[in-house]
Amino acid sequence: TDCFTYDPGFTSTASCESKITYIDGDAGILLHRGYPIDQLAEKSSFMEVSYLLLNGELPSKAELDKFTYTISRHTMVHEQLATFFRGFRRDAHPMAIMCGVVGALSAFYHDSTDIADPEQRRIASHRLIAKIPTLAAMAYKYSVGQPFVFPKNDLSYAGNFLNMTFSVPAEDYVVDPIIESAMDKIFILHADHEQNASTSTVRLAGSSGANPFACIAAGIACLWGPAHGGANEAALNMLREIGTPDKIPEYIARAKNKDDPFRLMGFGHRVYKNFDPRAKVLSKAATEVLDKLGISDPVLDTARELERIALSDQYFIDKKLYPNVDFYSGVILSAIGFPTSMFTVLFALARTVGWIAQWNEMITDPAQKIGRPRQLYTGPTQRDYVTVDQR
Ligand code: CMC
Repeated sequence: TDCFTYDPGFTSTASCESKITYIDGDAGILLHRGYPIDQLAEKSSFMEVSYLLLNGELPSKAELDKFTYTISRHTMVHEQLATFFRGFRRDAHPMAIMCGVVGALSAFYHDSTDIADPEQRRIASHRLIAKIPTLAAMAYKYSVGQPFVFPKNDLSYAGNFLNMTFSVPAEDYVVDPIIESAMDKIFILHADHEQNASTSTVRLAGSSGANPFACIAAGIACLWGPAHGGANEAALNMLREIGTPDKIPEYIARAKNKDDPFRLMGFGHRVYKNFDPRAKVLSKAATEVLDKLGISDPVLDTARELERIALSDQYFIDKKLYPNVDFYSGVILSAIGFPTSMFTVLFALARTVGWIAQWNEMITDPAQKIGRPRQLYTGPTQRDYVTVDQR
């Protein structure tokens, strides 16, 4: 009989070899193609990081200009897609809409879905990176009942997204450089994270040779869950529910109670048993952005106090639970003006480049096989069928 390793949650199974992202969870280190995330967040741009993830090296000035230009040339979506949006209820969760419309791209771009052709893979990758902000902004516009805003290609990647999200016909949105740079930083911090649940989903879907747009839709579906990307929405909702620092002990007690399913959202990570380096950058950025915008949000004070209390509590120390990327991002996103329902959409927008870089790596890996885990069967042994009148 076959012998399999039983590894629920794949906590000790490497599903692939990869050259894209390195994480040392005990040391709190995250590198993309060797470059530390804090340096990229501080000094780079999302377009540059996207090029790096896809191509393995930082671009020269000419390469970056060409890449940025190419992405901007693909930002429009087919006009028929607007009709697709209109089939949804206005109160649909924007992640539900994203699962649908990104999957629907597979029905629109047949000229970029032959995965054996490197040129077609390249165009599909560029289309996804370029069109995802357009679709994300459309999901937002649809939910608030405002007309869709066309992309403006003279704006930056983040600036264009903000413009499509917040412009209304009566009043042009002026892209504030502070907000634009905070948005770009948030995109960089979410761009890739090796074999997390949604990336593994994209790889698994892609391993059968499936359409790349459909594979990314599968990743979006997986990301939506509150244990994964949905945690940023859940974290801010939780911080708002806590409301004032005096309520924190009550929530800490709930998180520690084994009979209560409640968890501190934005805390803990499968791989990081130390500070999530992305949370460190975002914690600093949250103060900077709010200061620069002149916003004082009591939620930030609650977050800081919650972090302080949790990190000095034996339960969190013993289990090595630290704030993760989702803990502080919501404070910044809400200062920019996004409703919580859009938070996970922004995560999906930024992660698309990581998903597509990992998908490309898998397709070109000579060791690539269809992903097909085995199981330990624990059901009934063989038995004979009994007709319904005998049961
Ligand atoms: N609050 C309270 N207790 C927790 C928490 C938390 N946030 N996270 C983990 N624990 C406890 C858990 O109860 C378990 O205790 P015990 O060993 O006594 O059963 C122990 O810590 C280990 O937890 P686990 O669920 O076995 O660990 P995991 O690696 O399977 O889960 C996680 C990792 C991120 C799903 C989990 O920490 C969690 O649910 N956190 C809250 C949701 C969240 O913030 N998710 C975002 C993750 S980062 C962004 C992303 O990747 O999308």
